[in-house]
Amino acid sequence: MNDFQGQTVLITGAATGLGAAAAELAAEAGARVAVLDVNDADGRKTAERTGGAFWHLDVSSPAAWQETVADVEARLGPVRYAHLNAGIMTVPVTADLAPARLEDVTPERYRRMQGVNADGVFYGIQTLLPRMTAQGAGAITVTSSAAGLIPIPFDPVYAMTKHALVGLVRSLALAYADGPVRLNVLCPGGFSSDLLPPERRESVTMTPREMAMEAIDLLLHGGMGEVRLKLRKDLPAEAVPPPGFSLG
Ligand SMILES: NC(=O)c1ccc[n+]([C@@H]2O[C@H](COP(=O)([O-])OP(=O)(O)OC[C@H]3O[C@@H](n4cnc5c(N)ncnc54)[C@H](O)[C@@H]3O)[C@@H](O)[C@H]2O)c1
Repeated sequence: MNDFQGQTVLITGAATGLGAAAAELAAEAGARVAVLDVNDADGRKTAERTGGAFWHLDVSSPAAWQETVADVEARLGPVRYAHLNAGIMTVPVTADLAPARLEDVTPERYRRMQGVNADGVFYGIQTLLPRMTAQGAGAITVTSSAAGLIPIPFDPVYAMTKHALVGLVRSLALAYADGPVRLNVLCPGGFSSDLLPPERRESVTMTPREMAMEAIDLLLHGGMGEVRLKLRKDLPAEAVPPPGFSLG
């Protein structure tokens, strides 16, 4: 498979977990990979493993987005594909998935959640979409979550940010329907990664690599505005349509 031969693929949150696995798959398919993360040590390791290059990027900073993408394009060529994947949870998930308490969400943590999970994707799209449009082609896949579609009592703020991504991409897909850039969303169920505490990791059956295969497939073949749920290993991935009504 050489689907990305000669193409630059940019991935955020690519130091570990799903983003690192997506970087490996993209490299195996011939991509030059731009590994973006705040975790410099693991980010550099991903870049070394994939023959790519690492940039320190805090996705919540619009100025850093502009600078980083300009440098990526100067060094690796135009970004044709982007997987906007960086994400955090409000508080560490507990083994028993105890319901969250609002008083535990400090203003600093709340802003950080919005900054990474929601702003980080918005600024990424705002930076990349005009460049891809000018190049005449491109695709952007956003990592949301099953928590972008259903409530999760153990982290309501996480659910809020992940729902926001579904609304953003579905809306942009309509606004930019005539453009050359495809935008879509991956909603994973649980897979084993640093996001989950070790005791929870044993109960999830999917690996980052299995989930990354869905992300790569969406980048290459996903539809405009497609929202794809991959809930569990034993269930096929499914397209989740929006409700059947619209404004106006
Ligand atoms: N693991 C799961 O069960 C699960 C389920 C559904 C969705 N997700 C989503 O998958 C994505 C990847 O998570 P993962 O499970 O691989 O966990 P992970 O912790 O291994 O990966 C997240 C990455 O994002 C990076 N990151 C954090 N803040 C950042 C910032 N400000 N700027 C740039 N990078 C930043 C981290 O350093 C890390 O490398 C996240 O968006 C997460 O919400 C995970």
